[in-house]
Amino acid sequence: MVVSEKVRGFHASGSAIRKMFDEGLRLKERFGEENVADLSIGNPGFPPPRAFSDALRRVAAAPSMHAYMPNAGFPDVRERVADSLRTRGLLPGAKAEHVVMTTGAAGALNVTLKTLLEPGDEVIVIRPYFVEYTFYIDNHGGRMVQVESAPDCGLDPQAVAAAIGPRTRAVIVNSPNNPSGRVYGPDELDGLAGILRQASTRYGHPVFLLSDEPYREMVYGERAFVSPASRYENSFLCYSWSKTFSIPGERIGYVAVHPELQTSDWPLLMGALSMCNRFLGFVNAPAFMQRVIAESLDAEPDFAHYEVKKDLLCAALRRGGYRFAEPEGTFYIFPETPGDEADFIARAKEKLLLVVPGSAFGRPGHFRISFAAPETTVRLACRLLVELNA
Ligand SMILES: Cc1ncc(COP(=O)(O)O)c(C=O)c1O
Repeated sequence: MVVSEKVRGFHASGSAIRKMFDEGLRLKERFGEENVADLSIGNPGFPPPRAFSDALRRVAAAPSMHAYMPNAGFPDVRERVADSLRTRGLLPGAKAEHVVMTTGAAGALNVTLKTLLEPGDEVIVIRPYFVEYTFYIDNHGGRMVQVESAPDCGLDPQAVAAAIGPRTRAVIVNSPNNPSGRVYGPDELDGLAGILRQASTRYGHPVFLLSDEPYREMVYGERAFVSPASRYENSFLCYSWSKTFSIPGERIGYVAVHPELQTSDWPLLMGALSMCNRFLGFVNAPAFMQRVIAESLDAEPDFAHYEVKKDLLCAALRRGGYRFAEPEGTFYIFPETPGDEADFIARAKEKLLLVVPGSAFGRPGHFRISFAAPETTVRLACRLLVELNA
């Protein structure tokens, strides 16, 4: 066997999202793009904000800047990121020295986990969760521990408390949440912070919080986003512009460490994070993208088109009699499957409607709809969803 046993196992059980995406490509080739309602992957292909595109042209015309830089990123770019985190109240006290530029949120999470984990350390994830966490945790010798969320997919701090043990090194939270669209409120976050402080005292070492927040600006209605990292000092804030600027192929993001994190050796911590950027083979975040982002990071993308598609889908789901909670953020909806999950997904596929089974996120009996798709695709999906549950 060329491929290791473990990777063979991952490949077989692998990412249901990617499998659905590949299936979508096959179906589109066979039946025509306009006839397939592919709502499987969260892959925004919309134009980025104007400020980003303008910066792209300006930076491309600038003198060459394609060389290596410190593994943590260009110092002035890290400073721009820290300024923005501070002035927007996302991470009070943040300075350039707390920021490491990364290849997207995936890079930020991997760099952080590699820095923190001893072999066998436990990392708690909250169901339903972004399936790639499974592989990121495994990459660094960790053991994933799954915890159920509240029935409305909100945080259940007591459930987290019950799962924490002496080997718990970190908890990953993701708000706004993929797949549920839930945005955690300050009370839930403070409840979690209290539990993590108690556990840190009980076990005599910090239990860290990794706040994965690539959908942070994508929030609808009254709900305001509060960074989980801002409510707990032993936090790492992981962000990327993949979703909010519609640039997932460009691989640009960062990890920012809470300025009050308990460590006696800040230079070691920050040096380790940037060294892990290199050891993992990322080396540094793309130079060109760092420059472009530094000039455009305070752009306010227009999410009105997402709101239109969310409303269309929610109306169709209501017409079809589905049970679901309207998303507070992201471009996902996570309804219950009427009847058996596998049967529903298969019936949807027969109608050329592609959605991801809830079991791929650790919550069976649901399906995830991504509305990071053109409106024509969403309208087709609305018709099919109603037909499916007629
Ligand atoms: C919750 C969550 N975290 C992290 C990522 C990875 O994002 P990036 O493309 O910025 O690495 C994704 C991508 O879908 C995601 O949904």
